[in-house]
Amino acid sequence: MAESDSVSSVTDASWQQTWGSQEFIERWASKGGWQAPIREAQTAMVLRMIPQPLDAAIRILDIGAGYGALAVAVLIERLNATAVCLDASEAMLKLGKERNADLRDRMSFIQASLEAPDWVSSVDGSFDAVISARALHHFTANQRRRFIFQEVFGLMRAGGCFINADNVRAPTKELSQRYRSAREGYLDRFIRQSSDGKTNLAEVRAATPSTFHGPHNNGYLDEELAWLKEVGFVDVDCFWKFATTVVYGGFKS
Ligand SMILES: C[S@@+](CC[C@H](N)C(=O)[O-])C[C@H]1O[C@@H](n2cnc3c(N)ncnc32)[C@H](O)[C@@H]1O
Repeated sequence: MAESDSVSSVTDASWQQTWGSQEFIERWASKGGWQAPIREAQTAMVLRMIPQPLDAAIRILDIGAGYGALAVAVLIERLNATAVCLDASEAMLKLGKERNADLRDRMSFIQASLEAPDWVSSVDGSFDAVISARALHHFTANQRRRFIFQEVFGLMRAGGCFINADNVRAPTKELSQRYRSAREGYLDRFIRQSSDGKTNLAEVRAATPSTFHGPHNNGYLDEELAWLKEVGFVDVDCFWKFATTVVYGGFKS
């Protein structure tokens, strides 16, 4: 199925003002990447954990794909791979098609909301890898993410992987503060060094337009991993972690 209007869409008002808004998406997509060094390491680990040989003609699904940044990273490294990018935001998908016009033969975009299980009916066939970046922390209501894991498992081929590059909740208040200060210290140092001392994190942040989009409903890492095991994934682990930024996932036997 191509783009579908037969599956649930997001109707929440605050969502419509953020991911549902063309203006918000343009601001989000144009802002400087001051978290780039963390994001790059996270993406690199996703790429390394996909088990199939680099020249395999794998089919991937990126959920909460935005304009497809993570899927594109896979397609650049795997020339025989194809990707389906799923997101609820029409504006994001439009941007994805525009930005990735050169990959149009290997990349398709589907509009569907992960809030309801019927999103699975919007995608055809099965996948060798299901990936996601910085999107699934939006879903904790009624343990929605737990069910998303189950739905993903059902779409995967044997030998496939599910890899989520996301944020998790620190287990304690003390660790939350410690992680925050470790992350800020690291980014501040990176920005000072890469700008030859001309700027720092506070200045870059002050100059970056706000794209606040409501509280993140991150889960606890232990719980996320337990949910993956419960569904049937094997070799479940957190593959990479920096403070509360993680890459975790599992494989289908
Ligand atoms: C922080 S962005 C990350 C986008 C992309 N994965 C990336 O790393 O650049 C979060 C994405 O989740 C999408 N999203 C939010 N709610 C969603 C929903 N109910 N169903 C599907 N996607 C959703 C947003 O439209 C947005 O593209």
